[in-house]
Amino acid sequence: MKKRILVTGGTGYIGSHTVVELINAGFEPIIIDNLSNSNIGVLDGIKRITGVEPIFENIDLKDYVSLNKFFQKYEGIEAIINFAASKAVGESVKMPVMYYRNNITSLLNLVELMPKYGINHIVFSSSCTVYGQPDVLPVTEQSPIQPATSPYGYTKQVCENIIRDTVKATVGMKSILLRYFNPIGAHPSAEIGELPNGVPNNLLPFVTQTAIGLRSELKVFGNDYNTPDGSCIRDYIYVVDLAKAHVMAVERMLDKKMKRSVEVFNLGTGTGLSVLEIVNKFMEVSGVNLPYQIAPRREGDIEKVWADPSLANKELGWKADTPLEDVLSSCWKWELKLQERREKDQQNS
Ligand code: UD1
Repeated sequence: MKKRILVTGGTGYIGSHTVVELINAGFEPIIIDNLSNSNIGVLDGIKRITGVEPIFENIDLKDYVSLNKFFQKYEGIEAIINFAASKAVGESVKMPVMYYRNNITSLLNLVELMPKYGINHIVFSSSCTVYGQPDVLPVTEQSPIQPATSPYGYTKQVCENIIRDTVKATVGMKSILLRYFNPIGAHPSAEIGELPNGVPNNLLPFVTQTAIGLRSELKVFGNDYNTPDGSCIRDYIYVVDLAKAHVMAVERMLDKKMKRSVEVFNLGTGTGLSVLEIVNKFMEVSGVNLPYQIAPRREGDIEKVWADPSLANKELGWKADTPLEDVLSSCWKWELKLQERREKDQQNS
């Protein structure tokens, strides 16, 4: 029998790539998503890649009654991977209540129901945002947590604490907290990828949309930072590598290999790249000239951050080793596919 894993937010960007890797590894993922920031068509993409159409339930995790019914219906879930959350930093500043309600209530409902249904394992999507601007780079899991600069960032810190406290109070419960650096790219098949809503906030979707002609130019936010070329530095991690880390985390839990009841891993490549390095590499890989302009710094941006991923390398046996060229060409291939869809939609309307 295949082991059942509940993937909340499983039609989202990182969730959908993880569902594919779970299926590839022989698990039976069950998706819960309310499609608030994703599309039901993602299920077809997953099916085209894996040959399997995952079980899907359109449920809002804030709805305790529906979630309870879900657990009554699907027995034998062995672990939960909780992706479902709102994730736009700027939006969270404008709509803090929505962010607190969405991200925190959802997790509270899950951890409240887990013991009732004998589910002991939860993997949580956290973020490098919990470290703020670190004094020492690269960032290890021991680096200090800094006061959050946005409601989004604060929800990640609160959710980590909710999990720690619940695990402490619940016999048998275990959790792995995964702190992602900057996820980018799409599945190499271009069947699934990132689907930004409206004008993208994140760098790579903005780059590809500019390259395809949807945006007139990219604004590089700041070239006066204390970095070699003056633009900000981040650790860009391929979404498929990131997805595989979730499978390894689930296996570590189910194989009883955890050394503590809560473990934390940084998921990054260990290499920092500047915005301008990404822009230049993207032009080289795609062969497209990307119009860009240096613009003022973006409020709230930190100067530089990259991971020390050695704990995840050692304990999970995981490494983000996809070459940057392949990652950036996956972004471009995905944008070309989206463009094809947009053109088809236009013809049909
Ligand atoms: C932010 C969050 C991170 C979250 C991620 C996903 C922080 C510190 N980081 O990452 O936790 O997981 O969003 O939503 O809160 N840039 C441009 N032009 C653009 C867009 C971006 O120059 O049009 C630059 C930014 O200034 C930054 C880099 O590209 O230096 C990456 O930006 P972005 O993709 O938005 O991610 P972060 O802000 O690093």
